[in-house]
Amino acid sequence: VIGSFDRLGFERHRRRFRAADLDVDLGGVHAIVTGANSGIGYATASALAVRGARVLLACRDGGRGEAARDAIRSQTGSSLVDLAVVDVSDLEAVRAFAEALGWSRVDRLIHNAGLLPRERMLTPVGHELTFATHVLGPHLLTRLLRSRLEASADVRVVWVSSGGMYTVALSLDDLAWERRTYDGVRAYAQTKRMQVALAERWAREFVGTRVSVYAMHPGWAETPGVIRSLPRFHRLTARLLRTAEQGADTVLWLALVREAPSPSGGFFFDREERTRYLLPWTVETPAAREELWQRCEALTTR
Ligand SMILES: NC(=O)c1ccc[n+]([C@@H]2O[C@H](COP(=O)([O-])OP(=O)(O)OC[C@H]3O[C@@H](n4cnc5c(N)ncnc54)[C@H](OP(=O)(O)O)[C@@H]3O)[C@@H](O)[C@H]2O)c1
Repeated sequence: VIGSFDRLGFERHRRRFRAADLDVDLGGVHAIVTGANSGIGYATASALAVRGARVLLACRDGGRGEAARDAIRSQTGSSLVDLAVVDVSDLEAVRAFAEALGWSRVDRLIHNAGLLPRERMLTPVGHELTFATHVLGPHLLTRLLRSRLEASADVRVVWVSSGGMYTVALSLDDLAWERRTYDGVRAYAQTKRMQVALAERWAREFVGTRVSVYAMHPGWAETPGVIRSLPRFHRLTARLLRTAEQGADTVLWLALVREAPSPSGGFFFDREERTRYLLPWTVETPAAREELWQRCEALTTR
C-alpha cells in the first residue's frame, strides 16, 4: 500500500503509461460527473471539458457547483460545461435529475460523489448517508439513464471506489447502523466495497450492449475531502499524497482510452486491472453479490 497508493506509487506506475491513451478528442461526447465541484471530480470534469466533451457537473450545492462550472469554463475555454444541482443521496432528487436531463444519450457517467461523515447521518427517507451516496443514488441513476446509455456507440460508466474497501468484506447486515455504534471509516469502506461488486453486476446487465462498466480506486490524493474528513491521515501523509489530477488519472484513462479496457466489470488502479481482495476473509460469495443487487433494486424501486 505504501509506495503504491501514494505519489511514489504513481511515479513508478506512470512509467508504463502511454501518453497517447489520453490524447483523445471528445467532441460530441456527453459526460456526467457527480461530485464535480471538488477534488477528483473537479479534475475529471476539467480534463473531459478540455478535450471537447459536453460535461454536466452534478453537484449537491448550487453555489459550489456554480463556482466550479465557472472556473472550469474559464480554465478550459469550453462553453460546454453545465451544472445540475442534485444530491445523489436523495433518491427523489436523482429521479428529478434524470427526468429533467435533456440529453437523448449519455456516453460517460462518472459516479464520483463521495464523503466520509464522522457521525451517523440519515437521508430524509432514512438511508444511512454513505450507503445512499455511494450505492443507492448511483445505482438508481444508472438504472434511470439505462436507455440513454444504451443509445450510444461507446459508453463508459466509472465507479470511483476506494482502496479502503480492501479492509472489509461485503456485508449487508444493519445497513442503517441501527444496531452498532457508528464508525464512519467502516461505513465508508463497506459502501466502497459494495460499489466494486455493483460495478461488476452492472457490467453483466449490459452484456450485449456497448456499455462498459468499471470500478477503480484513485490511491491517496490530496483533496478537500481528505483534508476535511481525515485530518490526522492528511497530517501524517501530506508529503506523500498524490495530486487530485493524479488521483483522477485512472478515471480518465477508463473514460478516454480508445479501446474500452477489458474486462468490463473489472476493478482498476493506475491503468491496470487489480485484485478485488488483499485479505482472504474479505472474499464474498456470488450469493452475497446477488443479495446486494436485490436490495438495491428493492430500495430504489417505488
Ligand atoms: N482523495 C482520495 O485519496 C480518495 C481515495 C479513495 C477514494 N476517493 C474517492 O474519490 C471520490 C472523490 O473524493 P475526493 O477525494 O475528490 O473528495 P472531495 O474533494 O470531498 O470531493 C467529493 C465530491 O463529492 C461531492 N458529494 C458528496 N456527497 C454528495 C452528494 N450526496 N451528492 C452530490 N455530490 C456529493 C462533494 O460535494 P460537496 O463539495 O458539496 O461536499 C464533492 O464535490 C469519492 O468517491 C471518494 O470516496 C478519494
